[in-house]
Amino acid sequence: MSPAEQRPDDRVIIFDTTLRDGEQSPGISLNVGEKLEIAHQLARLGVDVIEAGFPIASPGDFEAVRSIAAEVEGPVIAGLARAQAPDIDRAHEAVRVSARPRIHTFISTSDIHIEHQLRSTREDVKGQARAAVAHARSLVDDVEFSPMDATRADVEFTAEVVQIALDEGATTINIPDTVGYAMPAEFAAFLERLYELAPGLRDIVLSVHCHDDLGLAVANSFAGLQAGARQVECAINGLGERAGNASLEEIVMLLRTRAADVGLWTGAQTREISRTSRLVSRLTGYAVQPNKAVVGRNAFAHESGIHQDGVLKERSTFEIMDATTVGLDANQLVLGKHSGRHALKSALQELGFDVDGQALNAAFKRFKEIADKKKHVTAMDLEALVTDELRDQLRAYTLEWFDVEASTRRPPHARVGVRSPEGELMEGDFTGDGPVDAIFRAINAATRREGRLREFRIDAVTGGQDALGEASVVLELSGQSAGGQGVSTDIIEAAALAYVRALSNAERRVLAAAADEAPAEEAEATELTATP
Ligand code: KIV
Ligand code: ZN
Repeated sequence: MSPAEQRPDDRVIIFDTTLRDGEQSPGISLNVGEKLEIAHQLARLGVDVIEAGFPIASPGDFEAVRSIAAEVEGPVIAGLARAQAPDIDRAHEAVRVSARPRIHTFISTSDIHIEHQLRSTREDVKGQARAAVAHARSLVDDVEFSPMDATRADVEFTAEVVQIALDEGATTINIPDTVGYAMPAEFAAFLERLYELAPGLRDIVLSVHCHDDLGLAVANSFAGLQAGARQVECAINGLGERAGNASLEEIVMLLRTRAADVGLWTGAQTREISRTSRLVSRLTGYAVQPNKAVVGRNAFAHESGIHQDGVLKERSTFEIMDATTVGLDANQLVLGKHSGRHALKSALQELGFDVDGQALNAAFKRFKEIADKKKHVTAMDLEALVTDELRDQLRAYTLEWFDVEASTRRPPHARVGVRSPEGELMEGDFTGDGPVDAIFRAINAATRREGRLREFRIDAVTGGQDALGEASVVLELSGQSAGGQGVSTDIIEAAALAYVRALSNAERRVLAAAADEAPAEEAEATELTATP
């Protein structure tokens, strides 16, 4: 669709919830630096709204939303809040530093939630919705309201609550299919009925938020857009609670590929899709299935001879999208072992990383190590290296050296040297079930920490025999779980780097949790002593 054909009324607002609903996926636990990295990339991707988190949920969530609001320019920055004043105040505190702050408040309208979860009544829900939207509106101009579990609720009652939110000044009304229960035609009919019952919906933005429990999240979202919604809530790689949310890349490419028939368009820079997907996968530890639409490794691969022959003759014989439109041509050779610091800096700049000073020195040192072992360093290699190396290294353990003996005749044995955050070189060794197990336990022994491995994954960054291995570890330490990544041509080294980083991240969380609890304990002590 050419810009001249793009009618303003047909523009679909892309509301990305990777950092909020996506982050609620089991096992994902991103730190503030990682969330910022993803938020900056989402801004490059051109999303309209970033739902950065749920600020009341924890001090870490608050800090992440606030940092994103302070640093990320372009998109609206939204914070989620239950329909309660303390939640809304906390969300406001977090997003207010953004040039474009939004508060997103929600309460359920289904009887099943009202009775069993809220243990409340429809009347109370109406009152809470009214007070919440009014309060949020007194703080910011941009307020979104969601009647949670709407698709299992009575449409007449949901319309009443929606009308209350409209009366109090909500600027976006979002209809969630919270449990992924709806079917496309039914969802469209639900929205059409809401338009009839609350005609004021035509004057604001109607939004849809669909979960994928029955694999219908994208289909339902699309049906919602065809029924008149102009905001779609979605997440990179379809992350989200349980089976996930509608996948951003699928929605965007659906609207783009079928623009001539559908007439809807978005402001997304589609060439950033692949990179965003890889970054999110890398930082969350959630692999993208190879046959996943748009971003799967095989989404543009042709195995059958007939298909290959067809594509060689004319791409459109078996491809409905051009891989370059989603940024899949990024793997051309960029640097070799003779490339200098300046070449690295400009290659990184092209990838969207502005690296200088100490960070550039660190990246250059790492690049040289890799380029010595690997003939061609591609853009995808650089991307993996940079995201691996340039993260916040405050209070971190570092892997200094390791030896691993692996054999089919003796149990594998590992020895490691790890430098503590205070600078002490600590050594440890362990005989494990396998070389990776041995090195992880040797790191525990050296650091005298009881890290418990929860997830471990190893992937090749690119194809080929000398491909970089990228390891991803999630571990638990004293009740806190955290992830880390490592990249190397040697997969044992990549695994050890990932483990050491995960351990550092977990330890920071343990320390932060202890610091958060300290004032509460003091307050409790004061209260107790004050009681007669
Ligand atoms: O699924 C859901 O209902 C939600 C709301 C908070 C919008 O995530
Ligand atoms: Zn949701």
